[in-house]
Amino acid sequence: MSSLVWIDIDADAPDGNLRELRRASGGGALMCAVVKSNAYGHGAREIVGLLPSADWFAVNSLEEGLELRGLGVGRPVLVLGHVPLDRLGEALGAGLRLTVYNRETVAALGRLVSPSRPARIHMKVETGTGRQGLPPEEAVSLAMAAAAVPGIEVEGLSTHFANIEDTLDHSYAQHQLEVFGRALGLLSEAGLNPPLVHAACTAAAILFPETRFGMIRAGIGLYGLWPSRETWVSAASCGNPVPALRPVLSWKTRIVQVKELPEGSYIGYGCTYRTTRRSVVGVLPVGYADGYDRALGNSAHVLVRGRRAPVLGRICMNLTMVDLTDMEPPALEEEVTLLGRSGEEEITAGTLAGWAGTIPYEIVSRISPVLPRRVVRGAAPEGVGGY
Ligand SMILES: Cc1ncc(COP(=O)(O)O)c(C=O)c1O
Repeated sequence: MSSLVWIDIDADAPDGNLRELRRASGGGALMCAVVKSNAYGHGAREIVGLLPSADWFAVNSLEEGLELRGLGVGRPVLVLGHVPLDRLGEALGAGLRLTVYNRETVAALGRLVSPSRPARIHMKVETGTGRQGLPPEEAVSLAMAAAAVPGIEVEGLSTHFANIEDTLDHSYAQHQLEVFGRALGLLSEAGLNPPLVHAACTAAAILFPETRFGMIRAGIGLYGLWPSRETWVSAASCGNPVPALRPVLSWKTRIVQVKELPEGSYIGYGCTYRTTRRSVVGVLPVGYADGYDRALGNSAHVLVRGRRAPVLGRICMNLTMVDLTDMEPPALEEEVTLLGRSGEEEITAGTLAGWAGTIPYEIVSRISPVLPRRVVRGAAPEGVGGY
């Protein structure tokens, strides 16, 4: 049965990327696969089954954690986000590990735990990202209070970096690492040494050996994408091993109408494009409701039979128009690549991000979860991806 818009997932790429990240980061740390937000838009259901080498999984929400358990994932699952106090029992029942940074959460867990239903918590330290977490002294005091409750195990201490992806200057990350080190020192002085210390995302793991500790929380790299151009440039120039990452996802659609329009015709809402010649226009059944960013209007290209076709006019909710004038007119329902390779050409998530004024993370994580994901086995390796 054919689809009009769909995602192809290269079955071998996720685990290959995870093994590459493990290799490039020295192999000493556990690999936690970050599969939050529908596995960065790739499809959590499909991706978790393609990561046999992952030691842990991380998700954002309770619902995502329960979904993984429903899919039969028996490996440890860490919830990175807040679990509502009145749903902590569900998390414990599913054996999910919790990221904790609120006294209320510790108090509620104290009322819920039992020998058969322990809580394993990971205390989050605020080191300068200004989002979840407690400053070192408070994190340590809450960790000590939690550890004193029978049934609560402080299994981990964690933090998250603010700008490793954004800059070639890593002095702020170094500062964050020092703050995190202070929390670790204080905790150790108090006699508590959580078995799992973790701080590194993809960029940190590749660029900063000191951030790897016992576990790496890798997201974007698993999907074969570089966090940013800066990370790619840094990796290539810093002398550390560079992982050979292979993009996991291709985003495809089909042409639903080919039409000729005379010179001077307007195309799309707002009449923002006007043809300057007799034009052959392809209509694609994909739009911003599918996650194809509205900012791609009049800027992106798509690939048809290995050739670039520029997007004409604004992206509609469910439709996009492209210029086919300079190629052999494609047939109705011919395949079009929005993201991925076609012949010698490739449109990467980084390229789309540049056109849309955003980052590759947003391009992929906003692909509509209702689009079909097809796992393609034995896809020919198409080389490694750059930014
Ligand atoms: C807390 C936390 N850890 C790890 C990651 C993974 O980061 P990356 O996708 O850059 O590897 C994220 C992603 O946003 C995160 O929020």
